[in-house]
Amino acid sequence: MKKICLYLISLLLSVNSLAQESYGDILISTPNTSLMVTGKQGEPLRFQYYGSRMSSTTDIRNSATALGCSAYPTFGIDCASEYAMQVCHADGDLSLDLYYVSHEQEEDADSRTWKFLLKDKIYPFEVKVCYKAYRTEDVIETWTEITHQEKKPVILYKFASAYFPVKSGNHWISHLHGSWAAESYLTEEQLTTGSKIIKNKDGVRNTQCDNPSFLLSIDGAAKEDYGHVIGGTLAWSGNYAIQFDIDYTRTTHVFAGINPDASFYKLAPKETLRTPELALTYSLEGKGGVSRNFHRWARKYKLAHGEQLRDILLNSWEGVYFDINQQGMTNMMKEFSDMGGELFVMDDGWFGNKYPRNNDTSSLGDWEVCHEKLPEGIEGLIADTCDNEIKFGIWIEPEMTNTVSELYEKHPDWIVCQKNRTPSTGRGGTQLVLDMSNPKVQDFVFGVVDNLMTRHPEIAYIKWDANMTLLNYGSHYLSADKQSHLYIDFHRGLTQVLKRIRQKYPDVVMQACASGGGRVTYGLLPYFDEFWTSDNTDALQRIYMQWGISNFFPAVAMASHVSAAPNHQTGRDIPLKFRFDVAMSGRLGMEIQPANLSNDEKDFAKKAIQIYKVIRPIIQQGDLYRLISPYEKRGVASLMYTSLNKEQAVFFVYKMEHFYGQAIPRFRMAGLQADAFYKLEEINQVKTNLWQHGQVISGKLLMEQGIDLPLHNEYASMVVKLTRVDK
Ligand code: DGJ
Repeated sequence: MKKICLYLISLLLSVNSLAQESYGDILISTPNTSLMVTGKQGEPLRFQYYGSRMSSTTDIRNSATALGCSAYPTFGIDCASEYAMQVCHADGDLSLDLYYVSHEQEEDADSRTWKFLLKDKIYPFEVKVCYKAYRTEDVIETWTEITHQEKKPVILYKFASAYFPVKSGNHWISHLHGSWAAESYLTEEQLTTGSKIIKNKDGVRNTQCDNPSFLLSIDGAAKEDYGHVIGGTLAWSGNYAIQFDIDYTRTTHVFAGINPDASFYKLAPKETLRTPELALTYSLEGKGGVSRNFHRWARKYKLAHGEQLRDILLNSWEGVYFDINQQGMTNMMKEFSDMGGELFVMDDGWFGNKYPRNNDTSSLGDWEVCHEKLPEGIEGLIADTCDNEIKFGIWIEPEMTNTVSELYEKHPDWIVCQKNRTPSTGRGGTQLVLDMSNPKVQDFVFGVVDNLMTRHPEIAYIKWDANMTLLNYGSHYLSADKQSHLYIDFHRGLTQVLKRIRQKYPDVVMQACASGGGRVTYGLLPYFDEFWTSDNTDALQRIYMQWGISNFFPAVAMASHVSAAPNHQTGRDIPLKFRFDVAMSGRLGMEIQPANLSNDEKDFAKKAIQIYKVIRPIIQQGDLYRLISPYEKRGVASLMYTSLNKEQAVFFVYKMEHFYGQAIPRFRMAGLQADAFYKLEEINQVKTNLWQHGQVISGKLLMEQGIDLPLHNEYASMVVKLTRVDK
């Protein structure tokens, strides 16, 4: 009997797999998500499903939810719909008709990749549509590889990395929008018929205004802790476009990739263009679930040293700006070391001899230490950091120059500009962008880091800045017929340089900065340990920006510094405790002149730094749960991190507004173990305010009922540490 049963089961399974075979259905899965496509000879590859993990393709077919849309729509046959690709063949024909030919699968320890080969029915033109599914993280990356064997180049006018459809619903998107010193504001809106495009055309800094990341909520505005949400983020540092197009069936069609504007690409015969990956995740636990998926994946795969803890640093910028000198630096180091700091970073103003960098009008490119300001050189500074038992870091902006610089005098043809026009300038009225498509420029930029690191192997940290838009579109290096490749080749050149740097200097910690938060992108983060979130260090405004950032990027990478009061950007006067409480919810640092702090403030900072060292692993490596959003305008904002084993947690609350008679909501926690008990301790306080300080409370009660908190004063804030105890 048992044998017959086994036989029947195996028969059923083989019929099932035959059915799958004949449909050509392929399920691409991560631990909790699946994506299904169908590849049938002679037909377009079809995108069928993206959502919770499914164990069989027949289930999707039987439920009739399979979407059946082309997985990579092209222009030329169906001309009325939006498309992912549009080309001009060598003979001038503008059409493309791709059909499925075959697919291959590659595996490594962390992921499985499927590459679906699509060919045009007439032209020797092919596209591989690729999906990479991580084994332990709920992320699927998708991109294309484009090649052809036509007689002459094929012009690619549109070449999206990714396309996927989402069937009708009440679709909302959340994305990050802003401007300099107000980056990464979370913007949430309903998608209505027509197209919504998130894009960037800066050429250099692709996240200063809109980040190439989105949350697509399927059933109404995305909630923090429940609901179907798809998250997407494009791993590209250059111009991009992400389009959400809703057609007459109310299906949302999502296209993401390099912005094709002024970037038509001449693909030579046999050349392969690999487009940047769009990373996708899906969660039923709302925005919070999507964020945690991205954070875990990023720490493991998409961030340099993502699973290591970050040092607490002092950056000299807001403390002294360009006023760099040996004694000033030494004093800052000493004061910071006395407070328990771990790393000192000398920002702008340390270089240039013929043209010393005293302000932003000169010297970029002349990366020699200014002997007048620093007679003992970088060696002298490093010796000081050693004496103070802290590490040393340095600022550079290697992709840039100024008209007033020795570099520009020597290599006027290294800048991005047309051959026959006078270039427009950027910051300081003299700044210019170097042409990263030029291999000589790439060698020079690599050399900036290589020279510093060879001469001073003790350098532990590099802040890599980029403060200008790509103006004067034109390259002296690129041939006349490839001028339209500049926006793309600039970033390919940059990436090549970063790869070389990482090969030779795998351990140096690097920060991606671009006029503040202009480079918060997975296009660059594999080479950087962190990003400078914004030039705006005002703690109140930072709560909004950091909240936005946290939807896609993990706290370990989010540099968050305590700065002076009144704040240099907003003039707001915020208590030191509040400033620390906000900075501690990310990668804590300081951006201040320590000599200007009173002794009481120094004592407070010293204690805060000590406390951060204790909670650092929970914040930098734990799971984030956002509780009350500052955008909801309920007068408060609150979030917490739990360690992955749920043994410890840190809860943050900030008072955002202060009015008499204000009703403060109750704070329901999240991410704890319901049947466990936690001891609550208020930390980083001047005096204990928490009524429940020292109490042991169940995870269940903390999450279901929550706690009331005495947030009576303006700029009240609290940090509460939760430790699991046996009861
Ligand atoms: C812009 C950065 O965002 C600042 O932090 C600082 O490094 C300045 N550049 C220096 O010029």
